[in-house]
Amino acid sequence: MLAGAVALAGFSVTAPARAASRASDRIEALLARMTIEEKAGQLSCFADMIRPPIGDINPQVNIRNAQTLLAETRAGRIGTLMNGLGTQGALDAQKAAVEGSRLKIPLLFAADVIHGFRTVFPIPLAESGSFDPHLCERTARAAASEASASGLHWTFAPMVDVARDQRWGRVAEGAGEDVYLGQVLAEARVRGFQGKDLKAEDSMLATPKHFAAYGAVTAGLDYNAVELSEATLREVHLPPFQAAFAAGALTTMSAFNDINGVPSTGNKRLMTDILRGEWGFKGVVISDYTADQELVAHGFAADDRDAARLAILAGVDISMQSGLYLRFLPELTASGEVPMAVVDASVRRVLALKEALGLFDNPYRSINAKVEAMRTATPALKQLSREAGGRSIVLLRNEGGILPLPRAGQRLALIGPFAEDRDNVVGPWAFFGDKSLNVDLATGLRAAMTDPASLIVERGCEVETTLAGGFERAVAAAQAADVVLLAIGESQDMTGEAKSRTDIRIPPVQQRLAEAIAATGKPVVVLLRHGRAIALEGVVRDARAILATWFLGSEMGNAVADVLFGAVNPSARLPVSFPLESGQEPFFYNGRTTGRPAPVDPNAQEYKARWRSIRNEALYPFGFGLGYTTFALSDLKLSTPQLAWGDTLHIAARLTNTGAVQGEHVVQLYIRDRVASRTRPARELKGFQRVSLAPGASREVKFELKREHLMFVGEGDRWVVESGLFDVWVANSSVDGLAGSFELLKA
Ligand code: NOJ
Repeated sequence: MLAGAVALAGFSVTAPARAASRASDRIEALLARMTIEEKAGQLSCFADMIRPPIGDINPQVNIRNAQTLLAETRAGRIGTLMNGLGTQGALDAQKAAVEGSRLKIPLLFAADVIHGFRTVFPIPLAESGSFDPHLCERTARAAASEASASGLHWTFAPMVDVARDQRWGRVAEGAGEDVYLGQVLAEARVRGFQGKDLKAEDSMLATPKHFAAYGAVTAGLDYNAVELSEATLREVHLPPFQAAFAAGALTTMSAFNDINGVPSTGNKRLMTDILRGEWGFKGVVISDYTADQELVAHGFAADDRDAARLAILAGVDISMQSGLYLRFLPELTASGEVPMAVVDASVRRVLALKEALGLFDNPYRSINAKVEAMRTATPALKQLSREAGGRSIVLLRNEGGILPLPRAGQRLALIGPFAEDRDNVVGPWAFFGDKSLNVDLATGLRAAMTDPASLIVERGCEVETTLAGGFERAVAAAQAADVVLLAIGESQDMTGEAKSRTDIRIPPVQQRLAEAIAATGKPVVVLLRHGRAIALEGVVRDARAILATWFLGSEMGNAVADVLFGAVNPSARLPVSFPLESGQEPFFYNGRTTGRPAPVDPNAQEYKARWRSIRNEALYPFGFGLGYTTFALSDLKLSTPQLAWGDTLHIAARLTNTGAVQGEHVVQLYIRDRVASRTRPARELKGFQRVSLAPGASREVKFELKREHLMFVGEGDRWVVESGLFDVWVANSSVDGLAGSFELLKA
């Protein structure tokens, strides 16, 4: 309702990000001596070919070979090198900059350290299912420690794009479909990467990306256009960035996509007016890979020169890989099309980053082969990878309590293309991972079994094609076993950048394999491999047990064994909804209410928001996950039925472990604004807590709500709070819970 509505712009704006230190005397002195070519150099980043390249992370365009890069560095024409690995190359490059160039400005070394470096942790989507910010902070800290020991200063992570369409391959890299979870984990990951002190040798600059709304690409097609209301942009897609900046992130990356016709990389309103004007961001914007040059293909810039002009004027400080700033900033400033003051402001910001890292005083920081060896793939890193893996697995189904399995006394058949596969355990964004560390399922399971010989392994088929005699051998293995473990799903080549899918089911050949196995009548436990939510069907959906095991990183096999045999009680929850069918996408739990919501009675079908074949609901909803014990929520208490404008609502409920073993539960707080001047989501997550309880034990779980938690973007695209009725749930997932309500009184 509008009465009592108050615009609270101040609440929506996070505190201005910590400044990357104000331009110091050193920076001003350098700037005064720089030629326009040297300035353009500081604003240019190129793929590092000085160190041996590690594969095609990006399209191989505008590639400069090692000799050219070293020569350009000596000429002061490069400020940042990216995605190089190893200390010797870093030493050579840094020497060229610090000893060989006129102004001796050190290079920045950046890389895509997304979820680990040599030791790989679970894909961010999986880890987000832990609902455990502390875990996310620890893995980011560990990744920064290992990567910085290899001479890196800057990671292009975390990806904080809210992803509501599971067809989009990059769902794998982020925190999933929810805004609040995305905010909390964005902060945690920034804190982890950057540590307490950026000058510390094991800290890295973090880059919340991709600014902005990359997750909203139409039809989940990577790089596609984005059509988005201002309200949804500000309520859904921007908050994780604000959270990351409030946590101290000093850089961001401009997204490939447009928003309502304006490509992000040429979008001054986004890159300058909102980012710097509204939020007070003082850091550096780097373009995504050739995103400035792509303004031409977008049809937004006439040619490369125009693209460079548009990008720098929009507020993009560093051009990644296109070389456009090097080529065109000299003439664009000479002609006055780009004021020198604009270039200077960007150079100041880039030099301030180098200063914040301590590079002027310590240019060779963390370039030390001995330190690299000491901090790489240590037992502690591997242990953390295993722990994070176990804490990311979601138990979706466990009919008859078939899991956990006994370690002895049963013959197990491990069947499927991922049974003994080490090439698909780390996920699509772990190019630097040391493959020799990868633990496949068979190895992990055998290590945990009393009699490893009682495990039979059969591949059955390839990921998308048959294997001669594969089905026959797999069926025979199932017949000889007491329990079948079916390792099926997506390969890591089916998720990630440019890997959008139109159909998010298990590939047909694997579904047929599952049918052949199910026909044996043996109990089947599905070990699902995936980088997104999957639309499960038929015998896979109806298996005795299903574990969502994602891509868990280097220690995948051990982490899965820990959960299968009960050393770890699974406690992760889904960060994305599993729809009933692919065609429901984009499907997310917090969609707005319609005028014709689906009725509770599934048979009442007429003229309601449902599909012809199914209701529009999830097979497994956001926030859902089982464990080896059971929990009950009771005794919901709200401190008042009427919340005064400036007060705090205290919400409490009792959680009891009603099962037989110790376990952890994620208690979730949701709200719904019953009546507002804009239609609101059916539910919104506003808090969660992880609680560990011994069998029979119980604890009161408490939450707080204030009016700023009830805000939305209303009239005139401004943040408002409106008085009136709100529903509140203390819940186990986004579709259940103890329900209460309260009224927010007028101001
Ligand atoms: C393109 C990706 O969109 C981005 O996330 C990544 O950081 C860059 N390539 C650099 O590798």
